[in-house]
Amino acid sequence: MKSRWFVAPLAALAVAFAAPAAAQQPIVIKFSHVVAVNTPKGKGAEYFKKLAEERTSGKVKVEVYPNSQLFKDGEEMEALQLGSVQMLAPSVSKFGPLGAREFEIFDLPYIFDSYDDLHKVTDGPVGKALFKKLESKGIVGLAYWANGFKDMSANKPLRKPEDMKGLKMRIQSSKVLESEMRAFGALPQVMAFSEVYQAMQTGVVDGSENPPSNFYTQKMQEVQKYLTLTDHGVIEYAVIANKKFWDGLPPDIRATLEGAMKDATKYADDIAKKENEDALAAVKASGKTEIITLSPAEKAAWKKVAVTVHKENESRVGKETIETVYKETGFKP
Ligand code: LMR
Repeated sequence: MKSRWFVAPLAALAVAFAAPAAAQQPIVIKFSHVVAVNTPKGKGAEYFKKLAEERTSGKVKVEVYPNSQLFKDGEEMEALQLGSVQMLAPSVSKFGPLGAREFEIFDLPYIFDSYDDLHKVTDGPVGKALFKKLESKGIVGLAYWANGFKDMSANKPLRKPEDMKGLKMRIQSSKVLESEMRAFGALPQVMAFSEVYQAMQTGVVDGSENPPSNFYTQKMQEVQKYLTLTDHGVIEYAVIANKKFWDGLPPDIRATLEGAMKDATKYADDIAKKENEDALAAVKASGKTEIITLSPAEKAAWKKVAVTVHKENESRVGKETIETVYKETGFKP
C-alpha cells in the first residue's frame, strides 16, 4: 500500500506536467452566423478563420457555425452578450431590439446607390459612432462587411409598388423596414432568417426582400415565383465580438486577429458583388423564379413611394445622421 508521503509528490508532479499542457490549449472563438457558407458573409467568416489560425500558429482556433446551426436571429445576440459565442456578424437591421436603433439608418430605402456609397458611410464618422454605441452593451464592433442590394420576391409579379398591397412580407427586426413595407401597402412580418423558407412554402408569408446570394442559397427559388430587381435597400453586416472576451485577449494575439479581420474584410467586400451576380444567374438558370427587371421609370415609381419613409424615421435613426449620410452618398431627398 502506498504511503501518504509517496502519493503527494506524485500528485505534484502530475500538476507540474499538466500545467504547460493546459497553457497550450488554443483560445477558442465560436463565430456564429445565420447564412450559408457560400455567401459573402459565409466565405468571409471562413477566410477570417483561416487567417486567424495561420497567423497565430494555432494559438487561436476559430469555430464557424453557419446557417443558424447554433443560434438563430434574436438568440445569437443574447448568446454573444452572455459569452456563449465570441463573434457574430449580424445584419445591422437586427440591432434595434438591442436598443441600438440608429443602425437602422442602413435600412432607409434607396439611400445607397452603390457599394462605394456604403463604404463611405461605414468608413466615416457614422460607422465609427455606431460602433461606439455598442460598447455599453458589452459588444465591440470589429468591422463592417457588405452583402449587397435587396430585391423583392413574391408568388405574383411585382412591377409597381401597388402590386405589394396586402402581401404578407417577411422582414428583419427593424422598424424602418416595417415602415418601408407599410409604405408599399404590404403587411410586414418580423421573422428569423432560418424560418423564411418554410414560411414561404406554407404561405405564412407571401414574399420577402433579399440580396440574390441569400435568396439562392436558401433555395427560395423553389418557393417564390417572381423576383423583382428593385435594389431598394441593402444588407450590411457588423462583425462584432463579446467585449470582455476581446479586451481580455493577450495584446499580441488581439493585434494579430485585428490584422486578420482587416484582410478578411477586404476579401468579403471584394467578393460580395460577384457572389450576388452569380447567385442571380443561378436563380435565372434554375428556371423556377422569373426575374423582373424594371425600366428606369418603373424603378422611379418604387423609389417615390419608398423614400417617404426617410422623414417618418428621422427621430428613430437621427436627423443629423441622415443628413451626414445624404452628404456622403449624394442622395437628394
Ligand atoms: C436576413 O435576416 O434576411 C439577413 O439578415 C440574413 C443575413 O445575415 O444576411
